Formats: sequence, structure tokens, C-alpha cells
Amino acid sequence: MRTRHFPAPDLTVSRYCLGTMYFGTTVPRDTAYAILDRYADAGGNLLDTANCYAFWADGGTGAESERLIGRWLADRGMAGTMGVATKVGAAPARPDEPYHGGNREGLSAKRIVEQFEQSRERLGLDVIDLYYAHADDRAVPLEETVEAFGGLVRDGAVRALGASNHAVWRLERARALAAAAGLPGYQAIQQRHTYLYPRPLTVPVPESIQLAAGDELLDYAAVEQLPVFAYSPLSNGCFTRDDRRPPAAPVDYDHPGSAARRAALRREAQALGVTANQLALAWLASGPAPVVPVLGVSSVPQLDELLAAADLELDPEVRQRLSAS
Ligand SMILES: NC(=O)c1ccc[n+]([C@@H]2O[C@H](COP(=O)([O-])OP(=O)(O)OC[C@H]3O[C@@H](n4cnc5c(N)ncnc54)[C@H](OP(=O)(O)O)[C@@H]3O)[C@@H](O)[C@H]2O)c1
Repeated sequence: MRTRHFPAPDLTVSRYCLGTMYFGTTVPRDTAYAILDRYADAGGNLLDTANCYAFWADGGTGAESERLIGRWLADRGMAGTMGVATKVGAAPARPDEPYHGGNREGLSAKRIVEQFEQSRERLGLDVIDLYYAHADDRAVPLEETVEAFGGLVRDGAVRALGASNHAVWRLERARALAAAAGLPGYQAIQQRHTYLYPRPLTVPVPESIQLAAGDELLDYAAVEQLPVFAYSPLSNGCFTRDDRRPPAAPVDYDHPGSAARRAALRREAQALGVTANQLALAWLASGPAPVVPVLGVSSVPQLDELLAAADLELDPEVRQRLSAS
């Protein structure tokens, strides 16, 4: 698998990042290990997890994914070789109440530092390659959050910082505050991003559990050369599976425009002799913004399908036709 170097975060990232959200909960240990082994063999070099994966799954506490990765890194002697990105900020603040954008642990300095230590322990790592703010927290002064994250890099515990589910203006403001304070700031973004486009939100931005990458974010990332880690890139498998509808929540892709888009994707994929999933990932990765899809597979055959076209390059005319569909 090809890699790409991002100078600002100084990270060299393989074409696909591997999401591990359900590893240790709905994806059992042996399957997760087989997926991780296959990804590593194929040259993949960055795993994506969080301090809360997957608290909402049956029997989940939120610690399962990090723990499983920590054990796999130790068992395979891959600590320090396989990159790891993890996140803080989206675990429920009050686990007994319904989960929503107002019920998150948030990004106070105290919470960031405490949770960082717990993540590091579960992962069995001294240094985390990429540490994200999982969701914005507008109740805490941004200066406090920026200082806490910047301090982790300054102390050598984190290589690079990222922001997930942030409005573009908040990302820019946080980066400006960090620069003014002489601190390392966010140099990567992780947002929901797929070939489908979402309906406008029906809740205010800060209350949304997830945010999708829009034109402004992609423009900002292209100009600043910030990697955009695109999560949920296969829209729950609906590109190739007729039993799957486009996701309707927490971001709504289940509208008539998605049917036309899915048909166009399938048509172009058939003409190229690739699968619709492979083409969707190539479309994501071939725009002006540097996009790295975060895969969400639950079996080795699913991963194999995606790896088989990891080097697929799109003809600009095909990309343009797909974008205009
Ligand atoms: N920052 C954030 O807020 C955030 C939010 C969500 C996710 N993420 C990250 O993004 C990763 C991916 O997210 P996601 O699971 O929502 O991704 P997704 O692209 O929507 O994929 C989800 C589902 O698609 C199906 N699928 C995957 N590969 C397939 C294939 N080759 N053929 C057919 N179906 C296939 C699988 O369904 P089945 O398992 O049912 O077969 C899989 O669980 C997560 O692991 C996590 O690391 C981050």
C-alpha cells in the first residue's frame, strides 16, 4: 500500500487508516487479530481508536478497542512500528443517561490529561502518534483545551494532534491560539466523509454527535495540506449491499439524492471493472484535499476487497462525472 508524507504533522500515512471501533465488542478478538495482521502485512501503518470504543455496543464499556489493540501490539511486537491514533472527549459524561451532544466528557485540561494516561496504559504505549479531540467542547475555554493538548506534544508524549467533529472556524481558531501561544496545534482532522452527501443538520452544530466534511473544510484542508481522515467512508456497506440503506443518523444520508449517487457509483464501477466500494474510496482519496479513508471492516474478506484496489487512481473525467452525479 502506498504511503503519503504530511510535513506539518510529520506523519507518513498509508493510503488507508484502519478503524477499530468495534474490535473487542461486536468484532471478536480472533477476527480482529486476523484483520490487524492482514492490514499490517499489506503495508497499512495507522490504527484508529478512541477512549470510548465501543461503549454503546452490547456489553461495551468503551475500553475494549484500545485494550485489544494494546494486546495485539504486544503479542506481535508491533509497538512503535504500527502507528496508533486515539481520541478523547466523546465518552459519555453521565453514562446512565441517554447519549447526545450535551452528554460528553468534554475537553477540560483535567479530563484530557487523565484520559490520555488511561489510553496510554490500555494501549501499552509511551508515545501516541496522533491524539484527537473527538468532538468540540464549547463549554471549556478553547485556550485551556489548546494548552492541554499542546503540552502533551511538548512533553514528547504525543507526536501530532488532530480534531474530529469540529466546525471549520473552531479548528482555525484553535490553531491560531496554539500558534500565538507557541504551542503545537491541531494538524489533522477527522470528519464523517463519504461519496454521499448529507441532509442539513436538524440540530445546532455543537449538539450534533457527528459532523460531516463539507466543501469549506475540504478547501481549508487542501490549502493547509491537513490530512482529512474520512470516517464511515462506505456508508455502512450500502454501495455494494442492497440490504443496507444509507445511514440515517446521527448524520442523515437517507434521501433521494443518495439513490442517484449510488446508481452512478455502481455504473462507473462496472465500467471500470472495480467494485463500488473500491471506487468510493478512490473518489474520496483523489480530490484536492488529502483524504485518508478510515476503514470500518468486520471481516478479513471485507478488508481484502478494499486492499485489492488500494492503489486505484481515478481518471479526472471519471472523478468529475461522479462528483457531478
Ligand atoms: N471520529 C468519529 O467520530 C468517528 C465516528 C465513527 C467512526 N469513526 C472511525 O471510522 C471507522 C469506520 O467507521 P464505520 O464503521 O462507521 O465505517 P463504514 O465505512 O460506514 O463501514 C461500516 C460497515 O460497512 C460494512 N462494510 C465494510 N467493508 C465492507 C465491504 N468490503 N463490503 C461490504 N460491506 C462492508 C461493514 O458492515 P458489517 O460489519 O455489518 O458487515 C462495516 O461494519 C471506525 O472504526 C472508527 O475508527 C470515527
